[in-house]
Amino acid sequence: MKILMVCLGNICRSPLAEGIMQHLADKEGLNWQIDSAGTGGWHVGEEPDRRSVRVAREHGIDISSQVCRQFGKPDFDHFDHIFVMDRYNLSDVQAMAPDAEAASKVKLLLGTREVPDPYYANEMFEPVFQLIAEGCKDLISKLV
Ligand code: 4NP
Repeated sequence: MKILMVCLGNICRSPLAEGIMQHLADKEGLNWQIDSAGTGGWHVGEEPDRRSVRVAREHGIDISSQVCRQFGKPDFDHFDHIFVMDRYNLSDVQAMAPDAEAASKVKLLLGTREVPDPYYANEMFEPVFQLIAEGCKDLISKLV
């Protein structure tokens, strides 16, 4: 199974989603490949935001070696599922889908709720970690 996590900048939320999902999948002995990308390109080549690195480390997950990249059309072919954090990501990614099958791969990570952008709110990193972890655990139980 190949899963892509997408947010706006690929430095706060989707790196956490990649790290948490890979951690949970590995723990379950699942041979899943998880990656992440951003709809925007401002931070390409950078490592994740230090606040995401820190909150992940506090929960025993190392995301410090991830490198930011931008979402692109080839991702629709490569991945089985594309999970986005909020409705802006959903419309941005679906607008790039070449056909209905590609568009159907794109879903909100939390189903109907959104993962809020913590970029301007330091105190949001822990709640965002918890929301993403909840979503990833639900997904594993649904997809296995
Ligand atoms: P993310 O947060 O989408 O969770 O990675 C953001 C990071 C950077 C920016 C916006 C959101 N930015 O505008 O630079």
